[in-house]
Amino acid sequence: MIVLILMRFAINRFVKLCVRSSIMPEVRIEEVSRFMRECFQATGVSENDAREHTALLLQADFTGHYSHGLNRVGSTHFGMAGYWAQRAEKQGLIGMAFTNSSPLLVPTRAKEGTLGTNPIAMAAPASGGDSILVDMSTTAVAMGKVEMKIHEGKPLPDGWAMDQNGKMTHDPNVGFKSGRLYPLGGLEETSGYKGYCLSAMNEVFCSTLSGAKASHQRPWGATDPEDPPNLGQMFVAIDPGCFAPGFGDRLADCLSHWRNLPPVDPSLPVLAPGDKERSHFEQTNKRGTIVYEAKQIESCASLAKQLGVKPILTL
Ligand SMILES: NC(=O)c1ccc[n+]([C@@H]2O[C@H](COP(=O)([O-])OP(=O)(O)OC[C@H]3O[C@@H](n4cnc5c(N)ncnc54)[C@H](O)[C@@H]3O)[C@@H](O)[C@H]2O)c1
Repeated sequence: MIVLILMRFAINRFVKLCVRSSIMPEVRIEEVSRFMRECFQATGVSENDAREHTALLLQADFTGHYSHGLNRVGSTHFGMAGYWAQRAEKQGLIGMAFTNSSPLLVPTRAKEGTLGTNPIAMAAPASGGDSILVDMSTTAVAMGKVEMKIHEGKPLPDGWAMDQNGKMTHDPNVGFKSGRLYPLGGLEETSGYKGYCLSAMNEVFCSTLSGAKASHQRPWGATDPEDPPNLGQMFVAIDPGCFAPGFGDRLADCLSHWRNLPPVDPSLPVLAPGDKERSHFEQTNKRGTIVYEAKQIESCASLAKQLGVKPILTL
């Protein structure tokens, strides 16, 4: 009996996987790149800027952050903060990048979004070609990940988003519509106030210092060309050569120490920050294609029509 139940479970799972993979469209990297560039140029962006912005968005899809790749074409968006930190890292520097954004983070004890998802990114080179990349929103997740759950037709995990009344929701459509995300850490009981504090720190770096708009002054989803977002960013580059010798070796030692910790589940090894992105990058590069949710491609088809560019070609 138990064997029969297990077999049925395995068959159901297999069928679900087959159906799922058969409906996930795959696009060649050059084709994604062509589509992004043409969309930008169709709205008057210069060839050079279109190329630069395409590189930023492609890096997000390459590294598995689909919320910030093709999903963000024609937007008024800063994109993947880690892209900028990694540009410094490739030059042998410690790179940091911060931006403020739209009022999606609901401060602990409040029920309205006020601060941005305000990401923090840091990348640094280690000996032997290794590196660290910390690149994360200060909300439990970026809003783009809630959009991805809509595309996937899956519920939200605990502690991601709230409804209009400030109550936790598992419905991605409700979470996206209400525009209310929990800070990193979730509820007050699970130290969500620390995410709120990190986002507040980011706000000081990005808008208070620079005179750009604060996150609460820029409505979520605003795209009026007459009223540009006027967000602020902070970039930092530190030359480790100005400090104690042996930075790269010490960082490599930390990374390998963390990765070699005994895992709770042997099938899930301990990762260092940036490992997921690196492994995703390598797989995408090897495959030469990017696999998207069907809804993503559908929304690109309507964008192509709107802008008069050739629709994205799937394999
Ligand atoms: N432009 C904006 O306004 C904006 C706002 C928010 C987020 N973002 C971007 O969205 C992207 C996604 O952000 P997110 O917060 O949803 O990402 P996320 O929750 O996937 O966290 C990513 C970070 O966690 C690390 N990580 C993941 N799993 C790990 C594990 N098991 N062990 C160790 N480290 C692990 C990753 O290496 C990475 O540094 C980022 O690139 C971010 O810059 C942009």
